[in-house]
Amino acid sequence: MPSTPEATCSPANNGVPLTVSNLRTYFFTSRGTVKAVDDVSFHLKKGECLCLVGESGCGKTVTALSLLRLFDSPPGAIVSGQACFHGEDLLRLPEEELRRIRGNKISMIFQDPQSSLNPVLRVGYQIEELIKVHRPVSDAEARARAVELMKAVGIPDAEKRSTDYPHQFSGGMKQRVMIAMALSCDPEILVADEPTTALDATIKANIIKIFKGLKESKNMSILFITHDFGVVAQIADRVTVMYAGKVAEAGTAEDIFYAPKHPYTVALINCLPDMSGGQGKLANIPGSPPSLVNPPSGCHFHPRCPKVMMDICPRVDPYETRISGEHVVFCHLYP
Ligand SMILES: Nc1ncnc2c1ncn2[C@@H]1O[C@H](COP(=O)(O)OP(=O)(O)OP(=O)(O)O)[C@@H](O)[C@H]1O
Ligand SMILES: [Mg+2]
Repeated sequence: MPSTPEATCSPANNGVPLTVSNLRTYFFTSRGTVKAVDDVSFHLKKGECLCLVGESGCGKTVTALSLLRLFDSPPGAIVSGQACFHGEDLLRLPEEELRRIRGNKISMIFQDPQSSLNPVLRVGYQIEELIKVHRPVSDAEARARAVELMKAVGIPDAEKRSTDYPHQFSGGMKQRVMIAMALSCDPEILVADEPTTALDATIKANIIKIFKGLKESKNMSILFITHDFGVVAQIADRVTVMYAGKVAEAGTAEDIFYAPKHPYTVALINCLPDMSGGQGKLANIPGSPPSLVNPPSGCHFHPRCPKVMMDICPRVDPYETRISGEHVVFCHLYP
């Protein structure tokens, strides 16, 4: 639980179901304190897709897991912040109340689909069980709904496939099963952690189509985590770029793609063709992501930044500068 008192959540705002402010999630390890998420803020509007992007290890998954308090604790702990969901702070809700929200109002597709599917249970049965956890339905109703969900995410021959085991599904089909499971209770917010990584281009395109459909037909809000800017270009309404546990820049997809301000975002956009390999490697940026135990002083990006100003960047933490509307950047180039 956060140790510092925070302001109470403002009442529910229909246009913005989720507002995360100054979230800090640290891991207290024998190596030292890993500042995995260090003062991250963002909001998610109804029916929009917000993409959280950044290199491997920058804190995307821990940010998502923090919302539902699903990270390893200990060694992890939420050190400060707020995550207001309809006027309630998810970071402070009693565990049993949070359990009612998890997988019900807010659903998550985890980064590793293998770990979320039980290998010894039939796929349809696993979806049915999830439906029954949250809804008072009969076995037959749950079975029908599971098949309906499998059809909705484009699994051919859904009725028959529902009796197969996970190992009988390909990677792309397993990913669809994960999406079907996350949709089993009609969530208001879907958090999808790298749902298209390791999939080939055609399957990736199909999965993106499913997400777009959910946004449009169900007005679902989607927090989509990826390091693939190509995917971001296809799906994002807004983008939050993270670097070393912090937000570097945020704005609408247009802001980020057509008028990026932070040298890190510019570099990400510049190496877009190199990103399709999906390794999260930024071919055009020398150096590698920093340790989150001892990150560089001042702006964490300064050792790799082509525009570093040695008199300020290594010394002072960059503050938020509003460029326009929703476009904000944390960089000393924009005082
Ligand atoms: N259980 C844990 N114990 C200690 N450190 C952790 C733990 N889980 C995550 N971390 C650290 O938190 C930091 C952020 O990790 P996170 O998984 O959020 O990165 P990510 O941006 O999702 O990366 P990727 O793109 O590879 O999935 C990393 O330095 C990671 O090593
Ligand atoms: Mg991750």
